[in-house]
Amino acid sequence: MTSADDLRAFKRDGRIVVVGASLAGLRAAEALRDEGFTGSLTMIGDELGEPYDRPPLSKQVLTGWVPAGGTALPRRRDIDAEWLLGVPASGLDLATHHVRLADGREVPFDRVLISTGVRARPWFVESEAALDGVFVVRTREHAESLQRALAAGPSRVLVIGAGFTGSEIASVCRERDIPVTVAELAPAPLVGALGAMIGEVAADMQRAHGVDLRCGVEVARLEGDAQGRFRRAHFDDGSTVDADVAVVALGSIRNTEWLRESGLAAGTWGITCDTGCRALDLNGHVTDDVFAAGDVARCPNPLYEDRLISLEHWANAVEQAEVAAHNMVSARADRRPHLSIPLFWSIQFGVNIKSVGVPTFADEVVVTQGSPDDHRFVTAYGYRGRVTAAVSFNNGKWLDHYRRLIETAAPFPPPCPTPDQPADRKPVPVDFPGPALLAQGATVVVADHDPGERRVTAVHRHRPEEGRTTTTGTPGTLQRIFDYSARADPYPLYAELRKTPVARQEDGSYVISTYREITDVLNDPHLSSDLGNLSRPPPPPEEGATSTFIHMDAPEHDRLRRMATRHFGPPHTPGLVTGLEGFLTAAVGSLIDDVAGREQIDIVDDFAFPLPVNVTCRLLGVPREDEPRFHLWVNDIMNSIDYNPETDPKEKLDKGVQARKDLRQCLGELVEQCHGRPGDGLLSRLANDDGPDGRMADAEIVATARLLLVAGHETVVNLIANGMLTLLRHPQVLQRLRDEPDLVVPLVEELLRYEPPVHIIPWRVAYSDVTVADTVIPQGSQIMLMLASGSRDPKRFHDPDRFDPDRHDNQHLGFGSGIHLCFGGPLARRETQIALSELVRRLDRPRLVADPPPYRPSPVLRGPIHLDIEQGHG
Ligand SMILES: Cc1cc2nc3c(=O)[nH]c(=O)nc-3n(C[C@H](O)[C@H](O)[C@H](O)COP(=O)(O)OP(=O)(O)OC[C@H]3O[C@@H](n4cnc5c(N)ncnc54)[C@H](O)[C@@H]3O)c2cc1C
Ligand code: HEM
Repeated sequence: MTSADDLRAFKRDGRIVVVGASLAGLRAAEALRDEGFTGSLTMIGDELGEPYDRPPLSKQVLTGWVPAGGTALPRRRDIDAEWLLGVPASGLDLATHHVRLADGREVPFDRVLISTGVRARPWFVESEAALDGVFVVRTREHAESLQRALAAGPSRVLVIGAGFTGSEIASVCRERDIPVTVAELAPAPLVGALGAMIGEVAADMQRAHGVDLRCGVEVARLEGDAQGRFRRAHFDDGSTVDADVAVVALGSIRNTEWLRESGLAAGTWGITCDTGCRALDLNGHVTDDVFAAGDVARCPNPLYEDRLISLEHWANAVEQAEVAAHNMVSARADRRPHLSIPLFWSIQFGVNIKSVGVPTFADEVVVTQGSPDDHRFVTAYGYRGRVTAAVSFNNGKWLDHYRRLIETAAPFPPPCPTPDQPADRKPVPVDFPGPALLAQGATVVVADHDPGERRVTAVHRHRPEEGRTTTTGTPGTLQRIFDYSARADPYPLYAELRKTPVARQEDGSYVISTYREITDVLNDPHLSSDLGNLSRPPPPPEEGATSTFIHMDAPEHDRLRRMATRHFGPPHTPGLVTGLEGFLTAAVGSLIDDVAGREQIDIVDDFAFPLPVNVTCRLLGVPREDEPRFHLWVNDIMNSIDYNPETDPKEKLDKGVQARKDLRQCLGELVEQCHGRPGDGLLSRLANDDGPDGRMADAEIVATARLLLVAGHETVVNLIANGMLTLLRHPQVLQRLRDEPDLVVPLVEELLRYEPPVHIIPWRVAYSDVTVADTVIPQGSQIMLMLASGSRDPKRFHDPDRFDPDRHDNQHLGFGSGIHLCFGGPLARRETQIALSELVRRLDRPRLVADPPPYRPSPVLRGPIHLDIEQGHG
């Protein structure tokens, strides 16, 4: 049989299953029948009843113009399908081609379309979310209950989140003459989706319509009365609002959890697809029988540099469903890409807002027509000098013109096409509040493009080892570890990894993720830290540089570490850390002085990043005047660590290489100058010490100093940033720390367990065949130790996912274990204790601007790249 015959047979008798029976699912089913598919069609949906339309739910249904039951999607044709409704799909087995349902049934398929969309992000405290009067709006039932609550005439409605849905709901409230307060963490409404310029207009509009708009604040708690009815909201700045309805409009969560075991590349940002809507598996291979469409899909678009884009737009769901359906029943040569330019609309406060393109994919914005003051205008968005999007307020007829500009990559700023030229035509920075906030509340997520990032995701490639095909781990584990979408919350992945404590990977390496096994490996003398022992050693990272003791084994490691320790801690230098106390307090204090009055601070850039270099320079005895150069070198080295040859300018790598050379040279000169001049700094002490192990060679001193600068940098930055983030997420603990300063000691310990800076030790090598948890790891294999997973192992720690600074039994893996146990642990602890205590003491009502914040690409040293916080009244 030819493939044309196969396709004909499939179109006649094949089995197609659609999971997610709403807009995208229904439109795809109709298109499949239009395309001539006569085989069996099964529609699986967890909601009961006819597919219905969602946009009216936050508009006409809430005003009462349209009953919730009157939103059924019009049927374009009969689809002759079997409907399995009211039960969710719980799994997808690609090997046997079955969809599993939560009630145990299995539905076979030849091809499957996934269109499970998104759900509303619930209020984060379950007991508060359950109060009577607290709502979200995603389904018909949600809208129906909220409309009833609005009809009952509440004294005030609180809307939490001023994205599109929240703003539309606030608009409905004002239309119904209901007092409404809108609370938004960003500086203005719609900022996450449309940027600061439109945010200002939107804020204006809301206030002009009588909305009590509060921006830059976070709702910390919802309070109920004795009957379990919502009564009051508490803000993080201490203020409160009394209301009897709260609508939580904090964006959405993609419905992908049911695909966790499927082997598909499905996660926080959706299901990764190619432009033909075919889903990718975890290894990045295109599947040919699994397709995705609608809000749950994440596709590349060549107009946007092939970035993967997730859209929560009605028009996108329809168009993508039609392309997916076509491709499901077409020969390879006839398949179509889904390349249309996104379109979106919203109606609020009497204004028709429309957008074309991807406004978040922009660095500048300009008003091209009309005037924002009149709420009738068009703005164009540009990225690197070309038009990428446009947004109109009450001027939608012009969007087609801008669509053509986007399609042809027209230069930005574009000329004004009409006589209503705005007075000011100067582009301004688009100014999104921060990528993470943007990703949470916005309806467009350019998931792998992050305008605020200094670095981009490192692409980790592994070639499968010839002749070895078996693996004990889930395929694609390494890719999942390295996948940036897991960075904000890698802990569910770690929980999965722990099911196979020692997992062999496709490339022959091993991932170890449980506490006991990690500790065993760290203390096993058969394991080496010298990458030269790998069966395929990598090229040395730095030409001509002496290796550092973190990459050495006994006895050489022990000799160098012993020599360095003589000047770094007990028994010979017991007072090192306590002696630095005054300096640390002053250094921390002066960094806080620099930012104390500012409303917005980046805890990473403004505070945590400069601190460790200051401290290590002091420790080494680097002259004051050389310090600025050390800051620049460490910065360039750190930047080059995540270099990605595909997306980064080569300059970034070159700068790192140059910085290493310059740093080495400068340290070499400093060491030379130290000979015969005993001083307090470590360089001088090492250069003049004739201890039991003899004198350290100059090159070894330089290597040790470099090691301290690098090993003690990003780790401390991350611990401070992760610490501040965790405290802001646990306001009660933050308050306790203010009241009981001594809490900082166990608190930092718990941070090292709960949100550690080092998630993975990526290098250990088996000297000879070693057995770990009954698995024989062959000589020369690379072993990755998942420290952060071990520190969350429920077999070792009680309630491990709880942040509990009162935890007593807390032997975490934050500093590793065995002969390489962190050399700088005591210093890192004290540095962080002082930093956090002072931040908490001196910042005025700090609150997060984005949660989760944007993370650095690295899964190894994990921490936010920026941690923007606001303070003061805001
Ligand atoms: C209140 C509101 C207002 C909106 N306003 C606008 C607007 O003005 N303009 C605009 O462009 N867009 C708007 N949208 C967005 C638009 O409605 C969506 O883009 C569209 O609904 C996406 O369709 P979908 O089929 O991909 O996903 P959905 O409509 O979310 O459908 C997914 C379906 O899959 C089901 N499902 C999930 N998991 C499973 C499972 N495991 N098994 C079985 N079934 C499952 C879900 O329950 C749901 O029925 C709005 C959305 C909402 C909620
Ligand atoms: C919170 C901050 C820190 C964390 C979480 C941390 C974590 C770690 C970990 C996990 C290791 C073990 C690596 C391995 O086994 O291969 C390690 C080793 C090391 N750390 Fe740290 N570290 C921190 C801060 C520092 C500081 C401030 C310094 C120095 C000033 C430092 C210097 C070193 C050195 C030299 C080693 C190598 C030890 C050896 O090989 O014997 N670290 N660190």
